[in-house]
Amino acid sequence: MNYRQTRHENVVLFMGACMNPPHLAIITSFCKGRTLHSVVRDPKTPLDINKTRQIAQEIIKGMGYLHAKGIVHKDLKSKNIFYENGKVVITDFGLFGISGVVQEGRRENELKLPHDWLCYLAPEIVREMAPGKGEDKLPFSKAADVYAFGTVWYELQAREWPFQSQPAEALIWQIGSGEGMKHVLQTSSLGKEVGEILSACWAFDVDERPSFTLLMEMLEKLPKLNRRLSHPGHFWKSADLNSSKMAIRFERFALGDLESSNQKI
Ligand SMILES: Nc1ncnc2c1ncn2[C@@H]1O[C@H](COP(=O)(O)OP(=O)(O)OP(=O)(O)O)[C@@H](O)[C@H]1O
Ligand SMILES: [Mg+2]
Repeated sequence: MNYRQTRHENVVLFMGACMNPPHLAIITSFCKGRTLHSVVRDPKTPLDINKTRQIAQEIIKGMGYLHAKGIVHKDLKSKNIFYENGKVVITDFGLFGISGVVQEGRRENELKLPHDWLCYLAPEIVREMAPGKGEDKLPFSKAADVYAFGTVWYELQAREWPFQSQPAEALIWQIGSGEGMKHVLQTSSLGKEVGEILSACWAFDVDERPSFTLLMEMLEKLPKLNRRLSHPGHFWKSADLNSSKMAIRFERFALGDLESSNQKI
């Protein structure tokens, strides 16, 4: 494991691990503050574009560092980002394969998926998910981390996940086909500059997504607050806080099957 050599102010400090199955444990430093998931959903916390840009830049610095070390996060989401007094710390990088989310309670034709997890997953991953397929076989990549960052960027602006209260089957189709993200981009009033960053991160084509280095440049070009952006006032709606894990039964899981069965969701 190359986590031992990681040391960055925006990345949780890796302190040790026990890797003797079934005893698996990772020890990291304790993060003060709240998760970004909780911060963005707190109406008492003002988040203007200057603030969201600063938070995003800190995330990008941490992610850029991990990618430069050859580490793919695989589970970047607002619950794995801590925030306190303007400081951002990213946790749980590279652990996804160990956590066994897809494998947990696995039976034939059944996947156990956390409801809040799908909207961070790039379409190429969603399309490959299937019961019986291990996480190590899923195409996680740096570009898939950038896609997940896009969802965090969306959350910072809209203060909620892009899809609310939709059944996981619908999400799988929306995300796997790219149609859902396209719809969100077309219908959200995020402002031109904010929307361009989102659309770059959420590009369907893996090769079209920017690196974190390029994303940093894009964020630096964002106008400062004194020039008013069209801010999504109507996004301040109640957030979908349903993050409970749910088991979904699939007769046929693959996206191609959903499409060919002509299910319009
Ligand atoms: N380094 C840390 N410092 C302080 N609290 C932490 C740290 N890591 C995790 N936590 C908290 O411990 C709890 C469990 O975290 P855990 O990572 O298991 O769940 P999660 O982030 O919701 O999902 P995932 O397993 O996908 O990362 C959460 O409330 C999380 O905020
Ligand atoms: Mg976590």
